[in-house]
Amino acid sequence: MANFEPILLRNRGVTGSTSLKVYESRGGYRAVRKALKMTPDEVVEEVKKANLRGRGGAGFPAGMKWSFLPKDRTRTLLCVNADESEPPTFCNRVLMETDPHQLIEGTIIAAYATKSQIAYIYMRVEFHEQFHIVQRAIDEAYAAGYLGTKIFGTDYSLECYVHRGAGAYVCGEETGLIESLEGKRGWPRIKPPFPAVEGLFRRPTVVNNVETLSCVPHIIERGAAWFTGIGPPHSTGPKLFCISGPVKKPGCYESPMTISVRDLLEREDMGGGMLPGKRAKAVLPGGASMGIISANEFDMKMDFEDPRKFGLLGLGTAAAVVIDDSIDMRVVLRNMARFYGTESCGQCTQCREGTAWMHKMATRIAMGAGRVEDLDVMLQTARNMGMMPGLSICGLPDGATYPIETIIKKFRGELESAIRAQPAGRAKRVLSVLN
Ligand SMILES: Cc1cc2nc3c(=O)[nH]c(=O)nc-3n(C[C@H](O)[C@H](O)[C@H](O)COP(=O)(O)O)c2cc1C
Ligand code: SF4
Repeated sequence: MANFEPILLRNRGVTGSTSLKVYESRGGYRAVRKALKMTPDEVVEEVKKANLRGRGGAGFPAGMKWSFLPKDRTRTLLCVNADESEPPTFCNRVLMETDPHQLIEGTIIAAYATKSQIAYIYMRVEFHEQFHIVQRAIDEAYAAGYLGTKIFGTDYSLECYVHRGAGAYVCGEETGLIESLEGKRGWPRIKPPFPAVEGLFRRPTVVNNVETLSCVPHIIERGAAWFTGIGPPHSTGPKLFCISGPVKKPGCYESPMTISVRDLLEREDMGGGMLPGKRAKAVLPGGASMGIISANEFDMKMDFEDPRKFGLLGLGTAAAVVIDDSIDMRVVLRNMARFYGTESCGQCTQCREGTAWMHKMATRIAMGAGRVEDLDVMLQTARNMGMMPGLSICGLPDGATYPIETIIKKFRGELESAIRAQPAGRAKRVLSVLN
């Protein structure tokens, strides 16, 4: 769909796009006025009908999440997940730095629908510039009466704060985020209770991603039927896709979820193809945690369903990294293992020890001291950690195992050949340094 008109990125490139004046001159804050004339339940219903699936990684339907809140609740809190810690994802960053009022409008509508009195935007600490942009936009919204007491002249009041993150990957996990917001170490909580029942400050809480909330004003303004008309029925609405690596035009692009990995990589209005002299060997299409696909799998659709058919965990953050054929897969394997080994918060034995073992084994392999059996031990370790076998508090180890498993399964030949080609005596020397 090359002629698709951007929706979420429609204000990118417009002079002054971060200001309230420009946002309103382009139709901004019309949706929230409409929403405030509806009942909160009607807003939830519309978002449910739109089948807006969460853009933060798991793809859980937003409207359904909102309807899990207890009916008799007295105080609800909304957390906007702007931690964006998944390597190499930058869709939320682009949304916040180009159109912060779109996020604020979506936040107000979601807060109204969930009957929240306070919205916290939990933002990755490395987002220095984006923090100031969003904070300025919040200040403008307060000054205009769009945030604070009795907003837009109605009886509804909403406070909104930006809370800067703690610089850890696990603080993006919704209960790690909640703990961190409470001022504690960002250790994910055992569930149940789920945040909808007992979340921030033990209140019913909804956590939604920046991109998910940025979709909400468009659903309210143009209707659920318009939204479901974009993309396949299981993956409705516009979606942002990032691409990085040795492509001609790395960046963030918007499209319905009808594109393939090949489209993202090669289309002139997207990645634009590989840099001269480079050939793509593999892609991590959904951020690091979803796993890898090889060049003969590039027809995989970037939607919520297709990635599973290719052995991946899901669509994830739809941020693709391209790996060219000059890159040694042992190095990719080690990079992945090192990231998760470093980021495990350490509460659960299988995750703490499993990610650390995999890191050690992958390092040994990358340094030329690996053994073919190490690959099997890594696969076995990967199968014995994570939420799926019910062995961990959060999904970090599931995200740790998918890249490891898929790299080993899909590039086993290359890894084994490299291990067998190690010069004699090297393993002994490397191991003496590592141990
Ligand atoms: C280890 C880990 C890290 C995560 N990091 C993020 C993140 O940076 N941003 C995000 O929106 N969701 C992240 N998530 C998913 C959140 O837990 C949660 O599902 C999401 O914020 C819900 O928003 P959504 O339903 O709008 O997608 C992470 C999950 C895990 C297990
Ligand atoms: S699974 Fe890992 S990251 Fe998640 S709580 Fe347990 S130790 Fe921490």
